[in-house]
Order: sequence, then structure tokens, then C-alpha cells
Amino acid sequence: MNQDQMKKAAAEAAIAYVEPGMIVGVGTGSTANHFIDLLADLKDRIDGTVASSEASAQRLRGHGIQVMDLNTAGQLPLYVDGADESNHQLHLIKGGGGALTREKIVAAASDRFVCIADESKLVDMLGAFPLPVEVIPMARALVARELIRLGGQPVLRDGFTTDNGNVILDVDNLQISDPVAMEDHINGIPGVVTVGIFARRPADVLILGGPGGVKTLP
Ligand code: 5RP
Repeated sequence: MNQDQMKKAAAEAAIAYVEPGMIVGVGTGSTANHFIDLLADLKDRIDGTVASSEASAQRLRGHGIQVMDLNTAGQLPLYVDGADESNHQLHLIKGGGGALTREKIVAAASDRFVCIADESKLVDMLGAFPLPVEVIPMARALVARELIRLGGQPVLRDGFTTDNGNVILDVDNLQISDPVAMEDHINGIPGVVTVGIFARRPADVLILGGPGGVKTLP
């Protein structure tokens, strides 16, 4: 089984969490794309979806799946999305695809967050994956200096603009031993829109695809 097949296996397992009549929150990335493709078979049984990015909204609509505005949909029963890293407490690093802000909004609006990934994403300590931080463009240098003070090495994601019109700094060299404190600290820097640490609102369930099948945490 290659990495993509493991992602697909996790997405298949997440379909079991979808119930008739639900409005489903849908994430972004290659694993979420597998989920979207599988959700197409259930499109007549769900009430619609809320997408965490323009790319996912486009893919959902391509399957004829209804995409709703979160303000209309209200509180969601379920959000399914991938991650770049998860620790054993299901604190996540997200934002490899640049959709972290909308992902955090949809996660916050959801009763249950099911995270789907291949097993390589499970780590003991977050931080080997460069931490994405969405930043208002005029604050890029200020935020970068603050991140260097924290011991990180921020790199501007070249040629990338988020769906919200902002830039991303990817921060290397952070060992995130206290994800809640680090999330709060970075979110408090003026000009930061969102940091890609999902610790205040972690995943509720983590489904990991591996060569031997899927494993579910906790
Ligand atoms: C996008 C994300 C993705 O969930 C994360 O990057 C994982 O992507 P993939 O499923 O392609 O490995 O946070 O902003």
C-alpha cells in the first residue's frame, strides 16, 4: 500500500461517520479529496456540505454535492479533514494546503472533528512539519521577527495567496512541547490571522491508514 492508498483507506473509514440528513464539514487536501469523492455516493442522503476552501468547494460542486455558507448552515454535526501532523492527544498541525483559517473555523463550528491521515502523520511531538501561519501581508516582517524570537525559522510561502487574500509563513525548527500555549502565543502576535496548531480545538477522532488497514484513536 502506498501513501495515497493509506489516505484513501482512512477516508473510506470516515464515511461511516456520515449520517442521513447531516450537513457535513469538509476539509482540504489530498486525503480530504478522497473523502469528497466517496461522499459523492451519499449526496442524495445528506443535506449539504460546508467547505474549508474554494478548492474543496469546487470539487464538491463537481460531484453535484451542495455547498453551503457556514452562516446559513449553523452548527455542524461532523467535520472531516486531513492533517500534516497529529500527536497522541490529537493536537494537530494543519495548513500544508494553506486553508488553515477556514479549517479552524469549520472545526470550531463542528460537534465532531474526524481527522483522516496516513499513519506517517502520527508523531510524538509536533513541529517537524514546518508550522503554517497565515498573516496579513503588511505584518509579514513583524510576524517573522516574532517567530524568530520564539526560535523558529519562518519562510514565506512563495507565490501563494490564501483564499482570504493573505500570505503564509512556514516556520521550521519549532519543537512544540506545549501546543495549547504555542497556539495562544502565536495567535496573539498582531497581524497573525491563524496559526496552524489545532490544540484548543483538537480532533475528536483520528483515523490512520496503514499497510495493515486503518487504526482509530482514541
Ligand atoms: C490543508 C491541510 C491538509 O489537511 C493537510 O495539509 C494534509 O494534506 P494531505 O491530506 O494532502 O496530506 O491542512 O490546509
